[in-house]
Amino acid sequence: MTARRSDMTHMARNSRRHFLQSTTAISIAALLGSLPLAALAQTAAPAKMKIGIIGSGRAGSAIGGAWVRAGHEVMFSSLNLEADKKLAASLGPNARAGTSREAVAFGSVVLVAVPYSAMPAVGKDIGDLVKGKVIIDASNPIVARDGDMAVAAREKGAGITSAEYLPGARIVRAFNAIGAARMGEAATKSERIGMPMAGDDANAISVASALVRDVGYEPVLVGTLAAMSKYLVPGTALGGERSPEEVRKVAATLK
Ligand SMILES: NC(=O)c1ccc[n+]([C@@H]2O[C@H](COP(=O)([O-])OP(=O)(O)OC[C@H]3O[C@@H](n4cnc5c(N)ncnc54)[C@H](OP(=O)(O)O)[C@@H]3O)[C@@H](O)[C@H]2O)c1
Repeated sequence: MTARRSDMTHMARNSRRHFLQSTTAISIAALLGSLPLAALAQTAAPAKMKIGIIGSGRAGSAIGGAWVRAGHEVMFSSLNLEADKKLAASLGPNARAGTSREAVAFGSVVLVAVPYSAMPAVGKDIGDLVKGKVIIDASNPIVARDGDMAVAAREKGAGITSAEYLPGARIVRAFNAIGAARMGEAATKSERIGMPMAGDDANAISVASALVRDVGYEPVLVGTLAAMSKYLVPGTALGGERSPEEVRKVAATLK
């Protein structure tokens, strides 16, 4: 690690510690409104992180592949280990395949990208392993695909619902409403694309923000899971791609 990187990490840790101490006295919702969001969003992730992926379909393989290309170590998992082995082989030595439980154990961060109707099964499978784990939740309740459970999840908010399946996890909603086909290529684009994110845990937000930045998006924290996660699904005002400034403008109208 270079001295500059080390200083940045130290500063980031201090600001995170300060944030965590402050949250005992002030509600997170109030704090998020006045946080130096840019500081959180610009926090650097360790150069090489270990990331587990649950669901290696269109979204999971695109985001995971982009993280591999950014220098991270990624373990892919799904219901098809053989397919994941092939995917990992195609991405090189920083990619590997395993079961969902192995992916959670492997990653200091876990991306969950499964059809929302699979969340109860995922919760049964890995629920006992996720306490305290940073989980980036890209999974969306889509009524046409996931049925009635998606209606309830959209009403309650996807992040809040995911937290019920993944107890004690430090969940950050991200990558929810940008097409998978674009996820792998954002890093090569010169235009700035804002990634709306919601979460409750400052450290998890900071780690997820760095990983969002690593694949070419500009993280935009729009609020807590309770306040904003119902908007981080396709078909809402925050769906689709827009500049970071436009994401902030739209998010402000939803508060
Ligand atoms: N596609 C997009 O553009 C996009 C963008 C943003 C967010 N999302 C969201 O991301 C999620 C995944 O979408 P997708 O398009 O990537 O779907 P997909 O291509 O159908 O992939 C779904 C993945 O989840 C795996 N899976 C299903 N049940 C599982 C379980 N119980 N345990 C572990 N893995 C399981 C599948 O494994 P098998 O293949 O082995 O069945 C597959 O790897 C959805 O909630 C979607 O709304 C998608």
